[in-house]
Amino acid sequence: MPRTIPTEALTVSRIPDAEADDIAFIRFAQTLNGYTEVGGEDASALGTYLKERGLLEGLDAEQEAELGLRDLRIVLFARQRAHYHQGGGWGDHDPLMDEMRMLTGLIRARVEQRGPGVAVWRGDITTLGVDAIVNAANERMLGGGGVDGAIHRAAGPDLLGACKAVSEVAPGVRCPVGEARITPGFKLPARHIIHTVGPVWHGGDQGEAALLASAYRSALWVAAAHELDSLAFPSISTGAYGYPVDHAAEIAVATIRAFLAGHQHPHRALLVAFGEENEQALRRALGEAAEF
Ligand code: APR
Repeated sequence: MPRTIPTEALTVSRIPDAEADDIAFIRFAQTLNGYTEVGGEDASALGTYLKERGLLEGLDAEQEAELGLRDLRIVLFARQRAHYHQGGGWGDHDPLMDEMRMLTGLIRARVEQRGPGVAVWRGDITTLGVDAIVNAANERMLGGGGVDGAIHRAAGPDLLGACKAVSEVAPGVRCPVGEARITPGFKLPARHIIHTVGPVWHGGDQGEAALLASAYRSALWVAAAHELDSLAFPSISTGAYGYPVDHAAEIAVATIRAFLAGHQHPHRALLVAFGEENEQALRRALGEAAEF
């Protein structure tokens, strides 16, 4: 049975105001991911909400119209499909839901992108419409598992070609540990991908902390050189490379904050948490309360 959003939650007067409470808006936007029926008047209310708060800003008229219409079309289409299915559920990978997830990620990132500084963002980095997402790659830069695999899958096959075009600095090495390389984002909402390689954790007495800081700093330098404004990082080295999550979070926050304080670009960095443990570690490192 498709779940519906309680209508009182979506009347215009109840749509949270992004200025007053970005988190409430994010939760509002997220509910669109999980629900399948939105009243027509609520769809136009959502469109008004997005436009009045400049959440479509930075797009040219054509893109705004496209996103605006796409957003409303998606919401209305979701409603139509819900009626059509009469109790049928959504397939987990219904293409419409994928589009909704991408769109909500884009809207959410716009909400969180406003204003300088560092913020934690929970979700899939491949959905973010920022200037560049950072990839936790390996020295070969030919893809892999984890976030590297997710980025290559979402960006499409052209990304592998672009990685292969990056010249080797040693046999089989395109990006040494602690350095960074940039490629286009291809099918991603993000314009660029900055590939960096973190250290493998060997207990902490082989210079891992300095190498991890260098990976974040190199990615920031590449973003600054391209005058990018918004950047999103995964928790580099904390997956397959086994770096302790809390220690890595402290290094990430300290390195990024120091860089942003001394440079014009980028002016916004999102720390993307892919799981609860990661999110709490990043929020602790930022000095934020555990909850929003
Ligand atoms: N969005 C955001 N974060 C993600 C995503 C995603 N779609 N997928 C995974 N992550 C998180 C993981 O949960 C982890 O916190 O990214 C972090 C880094 O984990 P890995 O991707 O395993 O990267 P790392 O530990 O740096 O190991 C790199 O793994 O995939 C291979 O080719 C890669 O050899 C390289 C090694």
